[in-house]
Amino acid sequence: MPEQLLRVLACGSVDDGKSTLIGRLLFESGAVPDDTMATLEQDSRRFGTVPGDLDFALLVDGLAAEREQGVTIDVAYRYFETPRRRFILADAPGHQQYTRNMATGASTADVAVLLVDATKGVLAQTRRHAAIAALMGVCHFVLAVNKMDLAGFAEEPFATAATEIHLLLDRLGTYGLTAIPVAARDGDNVTRPSPRMGWYSGPTLLAALEAAPIPTPAADAPARLPVQLVLRPNADFRGYAGTLRGGRLRVGDTLVNVGAGTSARVARLAGMDGDRTTAEPGQAVTVVLDHDIDVSRGDVLAAAPTPARRRDDMPLVAPLPEVTQQITARVVWMDDTDLFRGRAYLLMLGTATSIATVTEIGGRLDLDRMEDEPARKLAGNEIGTVTLSLAQPVVCEPYATSRALGGFILVDRLTRATVGAGMITHIQPNGRAIYWHRLDVDKAARAALKGQRPAVLWFTGLSGAGKSTIANLVEKRLHALGLHTMSLDGDNVRHGLNRDLGFTEADRVENIRRIAEVAKLFVDAGLIVLVSFISPYRAERGMARDRVEAGEFLEIFVDTPVDECRRRDPKGLYARADAGKLRNFTGVDAPYEAPEAPEIRLRTLDAEPERLAEQVVAELRQRGIVA
Ligand code: ADX
Repeated sequence: MPEQLLRVLACGSVDDGKSTLIGRLLFESGAVPDDTMATLEQDSRRFGTVPGDLDFALLVDGLAAEREQGVTIDVAYRYFETPRRRFILADAPGHQQYTRNMATGASTADVAVLLVDATKGVLAQTRRHAAIAALMGVCHFVLAVNKMDLAGFAEEPFATAATEIHLLLDRLGTYGLTAIPVAARDGDNVTRPSPRMGWYSGPTLLAALEAAPIPTPAADAPARLPVQLVLRPNADFRGYAGTLRGGRLRVGDTLVNVGAGTSARVARLAGMDGDRTTAEPGQAVTVVLDHDIDVSRGDVLAAAPTPARRRDDMPLVAPLPEVTQQITARVVWMDDTDLFRGRAYLLMLGTATSIATVTEIGGRLDLDRMEDEPARKLAGNEIGTVTLSLAQPVVCEPYATSRALGGFILVDRLTRATVGAGMITHIQPNGRAIYWHRLDVDKAARAALKGQRPAVLWFTGLSGAGKSTIANLVEKRLHALGLHTMSLDGDNVRHGLNRDLGFTEADRVENIRRIAEVAKLFVDAGLIVLVSFISPYRAERGMARDRVEAGEFLEIFVDTPVDECRRRDPKGLYARADAGKLRNFTGVDAPYEAPEAPEIRLRTLDAEPERLAEQVVAELRQRGIVA
C-alpha cells in the first residue's frame, strides 16, 4: 500500500458536474467496479467510506453530534488509491445551504478540487468555496474547468476561469494552483490526457492529485495533547487521555500544563495495544506523568519549549500556546439566524469549552474583492472577522500554527446546533488588561443590611402584553412589605442609557445585554430588580439568567396573545405597524420567542392585573424571597 495519504476536498457550485467527475475519477483509477459507474451518479454515497482511525477535526465531531440529533450534514468521504498515493476524497454538496458541509470537508483537507462549469464561468458560490477552503487551511487548489465539451474545447473560457481563481487566491494568501480543462462526461484530462485540447499540455486531474504537495508536519514540531479524559482506575494510576496533535511525543519528554504553568515528565505512554515509547500526531494516547500535577479535561499538555534552533532565521520550535480570554478569528457563519455583536455562544476548542461573547465584528469578506468590508452582522454563509470575549480562559494557538488548537466551533447554547466555524488569527495574551477588583463589602453584605434576598424578576412578553402594568403592581406590594426594589422598564431605559438603540435584531440584542448587566449590578446592590422588556430572544434572556446566581433569576412570561395586544393597543403602535408605518414591530414583522419553561406564566386573558401581581408575590413567598 502506498504510504502517502492526500486528503482532497471536492467543491464547487451546484450543477458543475461534480458527481460525474468524482465518479469518473474513482472509476478510472480502479476504485469502482464497472457496473456501478451508472449508479454512482445517482447515489454518490454508495461506497468508499473513511477508515475509522483517522484524526478527525473538531468540526467533524461537532457536526457528527448534530447528525445524531437529526440535523442534516452531508459530506461523503470516499477512498481510492493509485500506485503512488492513497486518497481520501470529501465530497461536499455544492448548494448554498451546504456551506457547513463544505467547511466540514475543508477542515481536514490538504488539497481542494474546485469545480467550475466552463459554460458558466466562476460563480459567487465558487468564490465562496475557494475562500472557505483557503481560510480553513487547504494549501493547494486544483481548478477543474469542467464541461469543456460543451464549450467547444476552446481555450478562452478555461483561461478566463483560471485567471479569475488565480487572482482570487492571490488576494487571500499564498496558495498553489493547478488549472486543468476537463470533460468529466467523456473523461478528457481526468485520468487520461485529452486528444481534443491540443493547446493544453499540463497534467490530468489524477496526475495533479498525485503530484500535489502534502503538507508534512515538521518531525520536530511541538507535541500538544488537549486532554479529553482523566483516567483514574485506582489510586496508583492517573492517566491523561486524548488525541495527540502537533508533533511526536516520547517517554521522558517534559510536558507543561499550559493553563497552570506546571510541568512534569512523561513516565509512560499507553496506547490501544499496550505501552509504547513514542506517540505520533493523530494517535489516541494516554499519558502517565512522573509526578502528580493537577490536570483536568479541557487542559492542554504541551511539549516544553526547547531552545529555538534556527533555520532560515525562523525559530524552529514554537513557544507554548497562549492562555487567553480574547481572540480574533475568521468565522464562517452557518446559521440562518445572523451573528451579532453582543450575542453569546458556546465555543468549543480542542477539548475545552467556554461561553464566548461577540465583542466586535471587524468586517465581512466581500467575495468580489476578497477584502473585508464593514459589517454589523454576519448572515448565513458569510465569512467575517470577529472578536470574542471568553468567560473561561482557553489554551490556543493561531490557526496558521495549529489547526487543532487554532480552530473552533461556535454552538448555539439552546439548540446545540453548530452555527459557526472559526480560525484564530490573533490572540490577546492573558486575556484582557482589565482586572476584577475584589471588594470587601459584597452582595451578601449589602443584602444582609437590608434583610432581604436579591433577585431579578424578568418580565417578558409582547408590546402591550401588560408587563409594565403588572411589574408596577408587584413593586408596590414589595415596597409596602419594606423590601428594597428597583424597576427597569424598556420604554424608560430607552430614553436614557439605551437612547442610541433601535429595534433591529442587533440593537435588541445589545439592549438586553446592557439591561442584563445593569440588573446584575442591582442584584449586587442587594435589591429586587423588576425588569420589563419585550426581550424577544431566548438567547439573550438565557444570557441575563446566566449573569446572576442560580435561584436569583425568575423569568415571568406575561402571556397575552398577539390579537389581544393588538385589540388593546395602548400606544397605537400595532395600528401603525399593521399599516406598514412602523417596521420591525414585535409580533407583526419581528419575531417573539416565547419562553419554554418560565418560572412564572401569567395568562392575562384569565385574570386581572392585581390577581396576577398577587400570583407573583405568592411565588416569591414560596421561594423565600418574600418572608
Ligand atoms: S426589546 O425588544 O428590545 O426588548 P423594549 O422592551 O426595549 O424592546 O422596547 C419595547 C417598547 O418600545 C414597546 O413597548 C413599544 O412601546 C416601543 N417600540 C417602538 N418600536 C417598536 C418595535 N419596532 N417593536 C417593538 N416595540 C417597539
